[in-house]
Amino acid sequence: MNKQILRSSNWFGRTGKDGFIYRSWMKNNGIPDHEFKKPIIGICNTWSELTPCNSHFRDLAEYVKRGVLEAGGFPVEFPVMSLGETLMKPTTMLFRNLVSMDVEESIRGNPIDGVVLLCGCDKTTPALVMGACSVNLPTLVVSGGPMLTGKHKGKSIGTSEVWRLAAGLEDGSVTEEQLRSMEGDLCRSQGHCAVMGTASSMACMVESLGLSLPGNAAIPAVDAHRKVLAQASGYRIVEMVKEDLTLSTVLTRNAFENAIMTNAAIGGSTNFIIHLLAIAGRIGVSLELSDFDTLSKNIPLIVNLQPSGQFFMEDLYYAGGLQAVLKQLDAVLHKDTLTVNGKSIAENYAAAECYDDAVIAPFHKPFSDFTGLAVLKGNICGDGAVIKPSAASPQLLQHTGPAVVFENIEDYKQRINSEELEVDASSILVLKNVGPKGYPGMPEVGNMTLPRKLLQQGITDMVRISDGRMSGTGFGTVVLHISPEAATGGNFSVLKTGDIITLDVPARTIHVHLSDEELEKRRAKGQPQTMEAPRGYVHLYTQHVQQAHLGADLDFLTGGSGSEVTKDSH
Ligand code: FES
Ligand code: MG
Repeated sequence: MNKQILRSSNWFGRTGKDGFIYRSWMKNNGIPDHEFKKPIIGICNTWSELTPCNSHFRDLAEYVKRGVLEAGGFPVEFPVMSLGETLMKPTTMLFRNLVSMDVEESIRGNPIDGVVLLCGCDKTTPALVMGACSVNLPTLVVSGGPMLTGKHKGKSIGTSEVWRLAAGLEDGSVTEEQLRSMEGDLCRSQGHCAVMGTASSMACMVESLGLSLPGNAAIPAVDAHRKVLAQASGYRIVEMVKEDLTLSTVLTRNAFENAIMTNAAIGGSTNFIIHLLAIAGRIGVSLELSDFDTLSKNIPLIVNLQPSGQFFMEDLYYAGGLQAVLKQLDAVLHKDTLTVNGKSIAENYAAAECYDDAVIAPFHKPFSDFTGLAVLKGNICGDGAVIKPSAASPQLLQHTGPAVVFENIEDYKQRINSEELEVDASSILVLKNVGPKGYPGMPEVGNMTLPRKLLQQGITDMVRISDGRMSGTGFGTVVLHISPEAATGGNFSVLKTGDIITLDVPARTIHVHLSDEELEKRRAKGQPQTMEAPRGYVHLYTQHVQQAHLGADLDFLTGGSGSEVTKDSH
């Protein structure tokens, strides 16, 4: 045992009044004296019936506990705020940082020696990892796992279908009845979205960072192997406490680079960028938006999952899971990064095999040469913007057209289907004020539905630009995360309908054909539309949220405060 004195002994090892208080109330659960000397393992649970993707987490936590007990630890499960992507308004992204604060203080303030994070639906993963990083105890992630593939009338479906159905409703090819008949068929088991959306990208992120046991990302939520993995994770975290294997030991710059290359190879979510930047900020690893472009530039798409490809997470699992993907990336990954099981990433994937090259392609024979994500620069995004070329239309990756500008989401909803709207397939749809401060909360509205009259003409994609995000399950030629956002009064805020914009993804640029003088003149007249909330968390958020290129964390949450608490409560 490297770790001689347990952190929890600061509570349970005490004598006198304080030790009495710490132990006595715990004993109302029937805990015998000797348990207090064991490593105390927190199980941070985002179970909620309002987060359907995480609804099996009470069951999963029991398997983590089995492993903790088996290894001689003492498990304590605790709840934190959960974020359900489908129900929560105005957007879960508004509350990611709030959850991270809940997680950070819950871990630090309590007698916990090591922690297992139960993560599933999109924001629950980054929120929990961010909070845990700011404390930096031995930490291990268990993901909830993806749903089984949706099956509807003989066809496989996943969340990306939602965006096709939305367009079909607009052009009349899909009826409300048809839509309803799919509801139960799309989400037919517990677990998170079954495509390579944000939740799956986050599960792959933790595995490629080394924060989970190998195999964690792809095992379906309802597959018995996930229970086995949960139990093994519970066992392992006790050993990690003894080894004092903290988060910062695992989360090195090289681990982040591995995660970025992996996300490119799997066609992962654009949201990955924002979350990974925020996590890096918490653990103190220097990472910039441009790193995502540099590191993913030469990584081809080797995983054939929707929305960039054809298949689903269940297929990825049967094809060998993420370990088989990592093995294909052997030539580019940093091989010696340490993972939570005490082995290097390369030692872990050495035994992996690919069982289906229609799902996982060899590195030298990829599905596409387009990398997962590209970072753009130009006069409307001085601090950058993001596009996912693998999910875009190849013919639109270099495109010049006139802007059709919507000042905010209400303006978009009001005018997008108006007969008077002057728009054709060459137009570029611009949506402002959906950024971190502007909405507020940076919602997933960037892949805005096309004008009905163009959908009816059979148009399926157009260049769209916004300071918002899009769902990781979304697709299209969509430029996102414009930074600085419109609400801060930069050049993006002064775009007008009719301005000519050029997108050139191979050159990594996007710019409006206006002189610096003209832009400056417009800026001087402009009125930024920041939404000031009078009270509550949203007030705090709008005052302190940083721009997308910095990960949209609150400025005062960057970094960590360690695990020490010097003052007592009584
Ligand atoms: Fe929870 Fe998609 S809605 S992961
Ligand atoms: Mg999502």
